[in-house]
Amino acid sequence: MAAMARIFPGVFLICIILPLLASAFKDHLPEVQLANESDKNDVPIHINNVAQLSEMGEKIIKALKKKAKEQHDLDHDLIEESQPEEEAAPVTPTPVPVDPTPTPNPVPVDPTTTPNPVPGNQTPTNVPEGYPGATRAPVTIGYGGAPLTPNPSDPQTQVPVQPAPQQDLPTPEEIKEHRKRDGLQMGFYDETCPNAEKIIKEGMIRAFGNDSSIAAPIPRLLLHDCFVNGCDASLFLDQTPSGARVEKLANSNGRTVRGFDLIDEIKAELEAECPDIVSCTDLLVYLSRDAFVVSGVPHYDVPGGRRDGMESLEANVLGNLPLPDFTVDMLIDLFKKKGLNEEDLVVLIGAHSIGVAHCFSFLYRLDNPQKAALVDPRLAGVMKFTCTSPMSTLAFDTTTQYKMDSIYYKQLAGKRGLLESDVLLNEDPRTRDYIQKFGEDENGWFNKLGKAMNKLASIQVLTGDQGQIRKQCRAVN
Ligand code: HEM
Repeated sequence: MAAMARIFPGVFLICIILPLLASAFKDHLPEVQLANESDKNDVPIHINNVAQLSEMGEKIIKALKKKAKEQHDLDHDLIEESQPEEEAAPVTPTPVPVDPTPTPNPVPVDPTTTPNPVPGNQTPTNVPEGYPGATRAPVTIGYGGAPLTPNPSDPQTQVPVQPAPQQDLPTPEEIKEHRKRDGLQMGFYDETCPNAEKIIKEGMIRAFGNDSSIAAPIPRLLLHDCFVNGCDASLFLDQTPSGARVEKLANSNGRTVRGFDLIDEIKAELEAECPDIVSCTDLLVYLSRDAFVVSGVPHYDVPGGRRDGMESLEANVLGNLPLPDFTVDMLIDLFKKKGLNEEDLVVLIGAHSIGVAHCFSFLYRLDNPQKAALVDPRLAGVMKFTCTSPMSTLAFDTTTQYKMDSIYYKQLAGKRGLLESDVLLNEDPRTRDYIQKFGEDENGWFNKLGKAMNKLASIQVLTGDQGQIRKQCRAVN
């Protein structure tokens, strides 16, 4: 059996393999055998037995393989020599660099609005209106395949959040350049966060829909922020790096300023849409405009570009905020220090057309006969009736509490204003005429209101590289 096992491969080689090889390589065989001396030596001339024959077959095959390899190498060298330099690129494909960091500004892609793209076609797809990069390329997953559009019914293609393609977003250099621009400008966020004003406006509309009293506190926050150390959102800070007491703890802010939760809510939406772009200060300024708009004031444009301050000190509040027992001299002086004239003063206190005051802010007037003389007796009756505690509240304008209108100026002229400081403006020749005028010309007042608000919102602003863009309005970064 052992002999048979040795003989069989030999016979197989002689009868089948060698004839086949000989015919297949008949052109090469002589060359192989004569190619070099070593090959000649390797092939025995005398074949004494079958084993030798089998051995020889193996050697021939080896020689053929060796020759074929040499031929292949030679062909390859020749091909390379005939190629131009640049095409002789490395054979191993270079992996496509994949940026492991996610592209900033992940914009949720609404799969229902993205049409199926033609594979390889880079024409823009529909993205929800207003999103940055409305001309973005189809969403692709991985490399080398046809663009894959998320399909809500197919779990394979569901892509919950896709980063917007880089080319549709401003580059870091563009953003830096944008931030460096000095001063304020209209459409400041057009390139870097085109939806910013829309998000803010919708935030106000939503909040107002749930609670109509939310509009009034917002412009008041603006006044209280801008008059203390300039418009820098320092009023929003819960603490300072120094650990000192912050502005919002001051008596004149204290329990009567509100609206911080709405600011936090909208700021979070802005950060989700375009991180580190929209300052808390600009948020407050736009939101104040929108608070007026939902209350009936026609839209007016507001420039952006303010940056946020890094400190907030209770000590800065004293002497910088108007109080309800201020005289007209004190009011005019304070407003002048902030760059606002008498007309601006009267225009802006028209904001008291909406909102409420706590009883401790006005009830004292009835205790002093001289002051009480400036309170309409009917209003005095309402004050006494309503103020069961100093913390009770009364609307400035009891007829249209949620509406910005010129009724409040008429009420001031008739001594029916809640605040002593407001009523005094009707007693002073420097300011009385404005009260009369705006009481009769609501549109004229609206027109002045936008301008005066923009003046207020420009006090000592931080721009360019100053301050920072806070991630959260309550804390410095
Ligand atoms: C001129 C000097 C001003 C004084 C003395 C003054 C004083 C006050 C006082 C005492 C309150 C009521 C606080 C409380 O008891 O809850 C109040 C509320 C209010 N102030 Fe003024 N204010 C002045 C100017 C302004 C300006 C310029 C604006 C807006 C641009 C403004 C907007 C408001 C609003 C909307 C409220 C109602 C807030 C709410 O309902 O929560 N005030 N102000």
